[in-house]
Amino acid sequence: VKPYYQDDAVTIYHGDCREIIPHLPMVDALVTDPPYSSGGMVRGDRMQSTRDKYQSSGAIIEHPDFTGDNRDQRGFLAWASLWLAEVKEITAPGGVCCLFSDWRQLPTMTDAMQAGGWVWRGIVPWDKGNSRPMPRRFSQACEFLAWGSNGPRDFSTVDATYHPGILRGRPPADRQHSTQKPTEVMQTICEIVPRGGLILDAFFGSGTTGEACKAIGRRCIGIEKLEHNCEIAARRMLQEVLPL
Ligand SMILES: C[S@@+](CC[C@H](N)C(=O)[O-])C[C@H]1O[C@@H](n2cnc3c(N)ncnc32)[C@H](O)[C@@H]1O
Repeated sequence: VKPYYQDDAVTIYHGDCREIIPHLPMVDALVTDPPYSSGGMVRGDRMQSTRDKYQSSGAIIEHPDFTGDNRDQRGFLAWASLWLAEVKEITAPGGVCCLFSDWRQLPTMTDAMQAGGWVWRGIVPWDKGNSRPMPRRFSQACEFLAWGSNGPRDFSTVDATYHPGILRGRPPADRQHSTQKPTEVMQTICEIVPRGGLILDAFFGSGTTGEACKAIGRRCIGIEKLEHNCEIAARRMLQEVLPL
């Protein structure tokens, strides 16, 4: 398959991840933010456009819709199990998977991870720092990173790195994608792979994982189904990043 974009650190493929994954080289980790298929308790909510689901009312910049966000939970579980199993096949033994999820999809996401053959190892809350007070309710302050590994992972302390159990960072105000993640949060996550390691993001969106990898000296393969988002991501990759 032909890349949409390539530089020393980042390769972007335009297409459905399930068509691209079998052609990829071995990676050290999967770090990805799939369409949550969430945004509501009932079918009618889920079937709204992603613009209506994920953009706060009164937002100044309108972001285009993205795709793949309308499955019910059974459909999501079946679909996510498929690509998770396929990515596991191209992940180094002991390599990590990190999957973003909101609270509604979290149980389904961890089921899918295990159905795909990964060892589920934990949940890291991401405190988004922008939650609104909600009358007579706990505010929705967090999204979550479900993480696991491809079989046993080396937990010895020799030359070990240590990683936080909570992530913090506000979604960027100048975002180009309705669910764009903060680059500093992605950097913290991608540090789970050693310098020079290769990370796959099968749902690349505007390319935050690629930008994060460049900034911390990791490499990245991104897959994105919508050409409009590939274009945004490729433009971001071309912007000057000063490696640490
Ligand atoms: C939640 S967004 C990712 C946002 C990204 N983390 C960022 O910071 O910009 C999920 C992305 O997956 C893309 N997508 C949906 N289904 C896909 C598929 N089957 N293969 C590849 N990309 C897909 C959507 O177009 C959307 O841009």
